[in-house]
Amino acid sequence: MKVGIIGAGTMGSGIAQVAATAGCKVMLYDTQQTALDKSKAKLEKVLARLIEKGRIDETEKSRIQGNISYVGALKDLATANLTIEAIVENLEIKRKVFQELESYQAKDAIIASNTSSLSIASIAASLENPERVIGIHFFNPAPLMPLVEIIPAIQTSKEVQEKMVKIIADWKKVGVLAKDTPGFIVNRVARPFYGEALRIYEEGKASFAEIDRAMKELGGFRMGPFELMDFIGNDVNYTVTETVFKEFYYDPRYKPSFTQKRLSEAGYLGRKTGKGFYNYKDGKPVTPS
Ligand code: NAI
Repeated sequence: MKVGIIGAGTMGSGIAQVAATAGCKVMLYDTQQTALDKSKAKLEKVLARLIEKGRIDETEKSRIQGNISYVGALKDLATANLTIEAIVENLEIKRKVFQELESYQAKDAIIASNTSSLSIASIAASLENPERVIGIHFFNPAPLMPLVEIIPAIQTSKEVQEKMVKIIADWKKVGVLAKDTPGFIVNRVARPFYGEALRIYEEGKASFAEIDRAMKELGGFRMGPFELMDFIGNDVNYTVTETVFKEFYYDPRYKPSFTQKRLSEAGYLGRKTGKGFYNYKDGKPVTPS
């Protein structure tokens, strides 16, 4: 199967690795050559680490790398049977990209979005063949996280849904079907985790490092909420909260945080920029920023 991936950032790169490992021919596209270069370099590093750990050998590494080609035009995805979009969380931009993609591809090619919070129905509605559109929501880091939410829109055909369920299982992931509602399952359940932590911090009740420590020590979480927001990206996490808030008719339970908005505006996006709530060295949080 030929898989097109749009966006070579955090998620697109991870999903490319998953599909390539499963034996698909992957074409990874981004508007930024630097993103493609970074993605390629990161895969090299990740696979080298897997060799060190004895999980794969050199042959497997070459096989996975050989399955991915890095392309600089959307048209290059014309022959993909399945395309997964993982670009900026903005409905208008996604719709434009999908409309252009549809003009290059066969009518039965599946078009999927990795959106965290946007309506799949409204993405699908912009296309001539909306029945081919579906949401497939991976978690970060995609190669390590087994769960994938599969979100058919009301327009999605049963056939596309069934194919997607099978593909996700073939990729050795655990698929769960979710209705097309804001934040689907996990991002909705997770909103209060981030939101309450941000409110405790903003009310001056505790520092964010203390909140993280408490949640890890007692809550058993691998990362505290602030480490997790930095890991996801403050831009991405903020936008998801804002979308869920708006889509639930401004329900105050999901109110976004100014603190995170300012970090995002300042470019303090977290691990990916080396600075967020924490400063990062070699990918590890060192001091509060
Ligand atoms: P990112 O910021 O790491 O990467 C986005 C990439 O898309 C960048 O390389 C950018 O150059 C590229 N891009 C932007 N516009 C483009 C266009 N028109 N055509 C082609 N490439 C374009 O973002 P990330 O974190 O990978 O998120 C992507 C999507 O995945 C978003 O919809 C987000 O909500 C969703 N998501 C993010 C998760 C996370 O933990 N970061 C988890 C699950 C879903």
